[in-house]
Amino acid sequence: MNYRHGYHAGNFADVLKHLALCELLRLLTAKDKKLFVLDTHAGAGGYDLTGDQARRTGEAEAGVGRLMAAPRAGVPDAVTRYLAAVAAYDRKFGPAGGPLRRYPGSPRLVRAALRPIDRFVACELNPQEALALKREFAGDRAVEVVQGDGYHAIKALLPPVERRALVLIDPPFEATNEFEKLARTVRQGLRRLATGCYAIWYPIKDQTAVSGLVASLAGLKAITFDLAIVAPEGKLAACGLAVVNPPWKFEEAMAQALPWVATALDARIVTATVPVAAA
Ligand SMILES: C[S@@+](CC[C@H](N)C(=O)[O-])C[C@H]1O[C@@H](n2cnc3c(N)ncnc32)[C@H](O)[C@@H]1O
Repeated sequence: MNYRHGYHAGNFADVLKHLALCELLRLLTAKDKKLFVLDTHAGAGGYDLTGDQARRTGEAEAGVGRLMAAPRAGVPDAVTRYLAAVAAYDRKFGPAGGPLRRYPGSPRLVRAALRPIDRFVACELNPQEALALKREFAGDRAVEVVQGDGYHAIKALLPPVERRALVLIDPPFEATNEFEKLARTVRQGLRRLATGCYAIWYPIKDQTAVSGLVASLAGLKAITFDLAIVAPEGKLAACGLAVVNPPWKFEEAMAQALPWVATALDARIVTATVPVAAA
């Protein structure tokens, strides 16, 4: 378990994942019904962009930093909302304006969207990251931080009493069998809560593994978004997000937002949303 998200927070992959997360939360909380949110691989919760890890890679600057610096004219609504959430978190650490000091991880973005009727469990396996996550939400009763295996949490916590759920699955992909484990666990989750919304992030390095994951979603109501940038040698250059059971209007919001994001990031390719073929 060497992965530390602090090196990558706010990079192009986070932009795709967190833009989508903000939209999913917005649409799923628009209904006057309780929502259970499970963040299976939550990370530390928030990241210092002035610190050693972020500065060493410069990934945030090349990711969310570019979006922040882009001209505001014609910015799609979903991007405006995502950047507002990022800026709101940053403002907790000092005055507005200037480069970002802090970047919100997925638990912070979830927390910002949560209503009093909703419930949130954030799961993190790495003891140091879990401790940082606990500190991030110390005294906040709206967030339950669990130090443990996020895959196990899917089996243990679904179906929730709320009967409505958003499950974000964002593993570090250090294990060679992560894609298979992921596909298997999503199936298990769907058996427990067939109507749940599952957002699954994946790196695109091994096309066979990605195709296997997408094939495992065949027959479900699911869409995928892929984003590829020109990255330095040896760095992640492409990633994707699969969303099972997306809420109404989600695909439309992403279709409006992603071309603008691609331009801002100088992305080589943005694939259109792809409906997963029925089995
Ligand atoms: C990509 S990072 C998460 C980033 C976070 N979701 C965000 O968007 O801000 C993946 C995290 O999963 C943690 N992790 C690794 N294996 C895990 C497991 N089996 N269960 C829960 N967390 C795990 C890692 O320590 C790492 O912090």
